[in-house]
Amino acid sequence: MDLRGRSFLKESDFTPAEWLGLIDLAAQLKAETAAGQEPQRLTGKSIALIFEKTSTRTRCAFEVAAFQQGAHTTYLDPSSSQIGHKESVADTARVLGRFYDGIEFRGDLQTHVEELAEHSGVPVFNGLTDSWHPTQMLADALTIREHTGKPFNQVVHAYLGDGRFNTGRSLLVSSAMLGMDVRIVAPPAYQPDAEAVQIAQSFAAQTGARITITDDVEAGVAGADVISTDVWVSMGEPKSVWNSRVEDLRDYQVNTRVMELTGNPDAIFMHCLPAFHDLETAVGRQVFEATGMHALEVTDEVFSSRQSVVFDQAENRMHTIKAVMVAMLT
Ligand code: CP
Ligand code: NVA
Repeated sequence: MDLRGRSFLKESDFTPAEWLGLIDLAAQLKAETAAGQEPQRLTGKSIALIFEKTSTRTRCAFEVAAFQQGAHTTYLDPSSSQIGHKESVADTARVLGRFYDGIEFRGDLQTHVEELAEHSGVPVFNGLTDSWHPTQMLADALTIREHTGKPFNQVVHAYLGDGRFNTGRSLLVSSAMLGMDVRIVAPPAYQPDAEAVQIAQSFAAQTGARITITDDVEAGVAGADVISTDVWVSMGEPKSVWNSRVEDLRDYQVNTRVMELTGNPDAIFMHCLPAFHDLETAVGRQVFEATGMHALEVTDEVFSSRQSVVFDQAENRMHTIKAVMVAMLT
């Protein structure tokens, strides 16, 4: 696999073999870190981290992964650079491309991360746009392999909730690239758009993946090895949508009944995080006051259960983001 000099903008820029290659590289790097024997492959490199939206995992994963591999990072927060308000994305790309060996970008628009790649002349890494969340998908895949112990083409992966946004769309495509039996379980208005479904179907024709888009929770989760979900309101969406969103998606909450409906006592629960599973967040409390719901996309019971692998999944963000930087920059 030679990905040197390439950008990491969305799943479908890669072949299924390259996608698997990145997961294998992440597993190798994770083992090196655990053994305390990590050669530094990024010594002397500098990486810019542009965050137009907030982040805990993605930012920290890039910073720690870069540090462990000997690279330096500069964090540009949502208000401290000129990008967008005083300088175009293309001009910013031309400047940063002179200083840095790679650029990470998190923001609303996929066109912005594509423009950065076009004009900077260095590899650009998509740290989440409204359209795709590809670094998350590598972490999810590594976690699925570690916890199910099954080859990807024997895994049944059901995603419940908002299937229209970054995580739902990316999960559909990545699972199809890996040959899984993937089910997006959501009401019709929250199902993935035709473009995402078509991309997934064309991968399925190569990999043997099976794709189901359904609003039927019982049928959608039957036999699942993995149950995934995401927040019901994503970054950038207005607060005013919360009440209607809760009404629209409350039947798609991951709770003990849903885990039991899989018929698989070893089914695992996954969530990219952050998650609204209790009243320990300001947003969680506000939504509780308006709707009376103690938990939203996942109950605390499932989130805290032995089936939940969400913190292993979060750790794998670091190992997989490290793999992306190592593959594209060396
Ligand atoms: N899952 C994820 O992308 O987390 P952050 O928003 O904290 O980066
Ligand atoms: N769909 C979520 C993912 C967060 C990691 C959002 O965009 O806010």
